Amino acid sequence: MLPCSFLQSNWAVYLGGYNPLPAVFAGMTATMSNVEEIKARLAIEDIVSESGVQLRRAGKNLSGFCPFHSNTRTPSFVVFPESGTWRCFGQCNEGGDVFKYVMKKEGLDFTEALRRLADRAGVQLRPQSPMEQAAKEQHGRLREALDAAVRFYQAQLQTPAGTQVLSYLRGRNLTDETIAAFELGYAPEALEPLAAAIQQAGFTLDEMMEAGLLSQSDDGRRFARFRHRLMFPIRDANGKMAGFGARALRDEATPKYLNSAQGPLFDKGNLLYGMDKARKHIRTQDEAVLVEGYMDVIALHQAGFPNAVSPMGTALGGQQLRTLKRLTTRIVLALDADAAGDKATLRGLEVARKSLDREADPVFDARGLLRHEGRLQADIRVTALPDGKDPDEIVAADPEAWPKLLLAARPIVEHVMYSLAAGKDLQDAKIKRELATQVLPLIADVPSPVERDSYTQKLARLLQVDERSLMAERPARATAPRRRAQPTAPSLPEARPMPSIEDSTVRLESHCMGIIIRQPELLYRVDRSLLESGLPRLSISDFEHSDHQEMFRLSREALDQDVQEPYSYALQNLPMPLLDRAEEILLRTEKLDPEDDKVFEDLLRTFLLLRRRLLRKSNEQMRYLQQTAQQEGDLKASEYQQVMIQNTLTLQRLDKALATSPKRSVPRAL
Ligand code: UTP
Ligand code: MN
Repeated sequence: MLPCSFLQSNWAVYLGGYNPLPAVFAGMTATMSNVEEIKARLAIEDIVSESGVQLRRAGKNLSGFCPFHSNTRTPSFVVFPESGTWRCFGQCNEGGDVFKYVMKKEGLDFTEALRRLADRAGVQLRPQSPMEQAAKEQHGRLREALDAAVRFYQAQLQTPAGTQVLSYLRGRNLTDETIAAFELGYAPEALEPLAAAIQQAGFTLDEMMEAGLLSQSDDGRRFARFRHRLMFPIRDANGKMAGFGARALRDEATPKYLNSAQGPLFDKGNLLYGMDKARKHIRTQDEAVLVEGYMDVIALHQAGFPNAVSPMGTALGGQQLRTLKRLTTRIVLALDADAAGDKATLRGLEVARKSLDREADPVFDARGLLRHEGRLQADIRVTALPDGKDPDEIVAADPEAWPKLLLAARPIVEHVMYSLAAGKDLQDAKIKRELATQVLPLIADVPSPVERDSYTQKLARLLQVDERSLMAERPARATAPRRRAQPTAPSLPEARPMPSIEDSTVRLESHCMGIIIRQPELLYRVDRSLLESGLPRLSISDFEHSDHQEMFRLSREALDQDVQEPYSYALQNLPMPLLDRAEEILLRTEKLDPEDDKVFEDLLRTFLLLRRRLLRKSNEQMRYLQQTAQQEGDLKASEYQQVMIQNTLTLQRLDKALATSPKRSVPRAL
């Protein structure tokens, strides 16, 4: 688990100059967060009516036709002014608070909805702290320093030392237009000319250091980070400078490629080389091609295949794939033939993470990719390049060969299957079994049953064995690793008797989110328990409040990526205005050790209680809707009845799960 000190220090850094210890900490009543204040000031029924939905009063609540699905017969949309929420009990079966409503109605993301409603409510959103502002300005300056460096390195190609590099590039078939378009350059050995140029552009040595252009030796001496190297400027998708990749020009120099150090501007997990140029082509061609090297990207663009990008010597991660997924669902990986074999492909991401330096990570990993493919609902395929050839060599020899290779791309599982089989004696029973044990777990990871079946059939045919015996060889369907037994946690505070006041939904939700943000992995464990009780896994609709929904969404997203610790990912991607709320929640749940079994039991119990509350409320509403429908002779009445029956069944399961879960033994912090 994360030690509290780590949490706090990180948290404080992240919050910048914002006072990390608000009044809450001293036991005073919490100040209202922006979100709460907006909710308090706006009446949800006003917002809904203004958006064009006609509401009719029905007791405490109001109802109308749902604006999110077409139906003009039954008013299945209900607004609950008391809790400030809404729900469609019809086709959508969705609901939430005023933020969720505006997000859905206007197609906004949370931050945009927040801005709009803050305006409307006259709530001043927390301005950026001076430190946050300073950080932003500083990034801008660092980018400018990098831009100045790009121009310097480019100009060096015209110097005597640089002309040799220029001929090297021409020798590798790059035209002068391409060299200029990709802003390639040369970094000389010495620091002085670089320093002079950058200083002349108005930047200090400290800023050059900060921008990653300099390195420092133990005795404090500064020298150029990139010396006698071919420079590839790396820009983000918007064309803003992020860093450099730098290729050694002598064979013996190591590493062959030296990248900018990971930093605020250069985040390898987030960048794809060539993206600034490839973006529009990926969209129009509805396909992205991933290659391994910078030179490959450039050669492909020059040869008329501008939808190519490459990662930066790191494993292709969730964030990069998500970026691509926004442009297209079809992603083809062009891999050199042996990357497919036993080297990188079958190694789990975890293993690679722990044992290797990032530079040496496998660039493509079948297991990880399959996981992403399923989650992103993308179509990721692999094409194996002819032995030992890079894409740049392939297009140099014959540009026509490239589209053919792309057409030959196969789904990940098939690709792994055929590459593993290549060169093996498939008549040998032991080899058959070995292949089966390597490929079957991959097949088991595929979410679609139809795809799974089809791969199993292909594998059976390839190995010339009966499909049934393959099935028998199949591993048990993905069971998560058992958690190691926890020693009794000394940090857990003594159980206190709880005040008997009814917990508000806000409190229950915050309690859960405090634990989840800190340790998103717990979501897996909660889901497993829910499934075991015959209940659906957690979703956004388990929360009524948008701020919690957003935190929950980010925690899930944090699990889908593998660039950062899930915890830091969730925090860093939290919209600014939610920070104070998150901070408060985290501070208040700080004493709860997320690895403590008691804390987990309590978390699960709280989720069950929340869900029960939601379902009961839904049933109340249904009953009302059903009665009205019946009076008006509406056929919908029986549908409402059906939903109620469903709800009641779920409620029974919930009650059963609650009955077996230990009573609360953990003080609720909020
Ligand atoms: P390669 O060694 O295949 O280089 O590394 P390349 O792209 O074919 O370069 P040329 O054709 O020899 O000039 C492929 C990619 O892996 C990353 C770089 O992104 C490189 O383009 N890499 C490689 C590193 O990050 N560090 C290294 O030391 C080597
Ligand atoms: Mn190459």
